[in-house]
Amino acid sequence: MDVVTTIRAVRAARKARRGTWGLVPTMGYLHEGHLSLVRRARAENDQVAVSIFVNPTQFGPHEDLARYPRDLERDLSLLAPLGVDLVFVPSVSEMYPSGFQTAVTVEEVARPLEGAARPGHFRGVATVVCKLFNIFQPQRAYFGQKDAQQVVVIRRMARDLDFDLEIVVCPTVREADGLALSSRNVYLNPEERRAATVLFRALSAAQAAWQAGERDGERLREHMRAVLASEPLAQPEYVSIADPETLAELIGAGERALASLAVRIGTTRLIDNFVLE
Ligand code: PAJ
Repeated sequence: MDVVTTIRAVRAARKARRGTWGLVPTMGYLHEGHLSLVRRARAENDQVAVSIFVNPTQFGPHEDLARYPRDLERDLSLLAPLGVDLVFVPSVSEMYPSGFQTAVTVEEVARPLEGAARPGHFRGVATVVCKLFNIFQPQRAYFGQKDAQQVVVIRRMARDLDFDLEIVVCPTVREADGLALSSRNVYLNPEERRAATVLFRALSAAQAAWQAGERDGERLREHMRAVLASEPLAQPEYVSIADPETLAELIGAGERALASLAVRIGTTRLIDNFVLE
């Protein structure tokens, strides 16, 4: 497993090694969710690359960039046994040298939900992912359903900017009690960790109502809000039943809907989603 820090070294490796490349972009502090993407990439490609870069441009001025958890040694020790070929760990100045002034802005699908709660977030995500696609030129890139809107934004960007690659979406990996794995879960104290299951419980309530035939968007949102209200440590930021492609809020749902939510537990902001179908 080669670990490189420069774009030049990635390009050299890319040229030297034949076959298909699968890329897994991450911000590190890896957990089973990330590793499930890596395993899928390993099964589907000749070469597997993982990038580890806490991308400053996708964090807002009052967000957790400075305290975002990092542990490169541990990350590398988790990746090596999975048969990863190349790990790219660039510095901020390697990705954004002085004078950098270009950004990728995806319009409509980046506006609601996370886009509304975190202005500029998807501009940072689309820009860094666009750069990674150009640097690696992979045949396939792997993303988690955990960040549902991120997948919609990146798919849109890849189509609009003619990237010749397949975007592979992998299911959300959860703890036994339903909490979606996230690098940010380490912020939770034991009491908050117990409360954090409220996201899964709220989504499960929407799913149960859906399975019982409920298709009214507002009533489905109401099921989620009721569960959230029962948890004193939970401060909901948004609760959404949206069209899975356009992300527009649904009045009456059709065959599929994306149930998603963002909730603060203490100072930690958590997101999760279910596709209802
Ligand atoms: P990060 O939060 O590190 O996540 C990297 C990838 O792992 C993303 O595609 C995310 O959806 C996926 N992932 C995270 N938790 C998961 C879980 N519980 N189950 C399945 N997949 C999960 O997302 C980012 O980094 C960044 O925005 C990035 C795309 C790397 C751009 O900077």
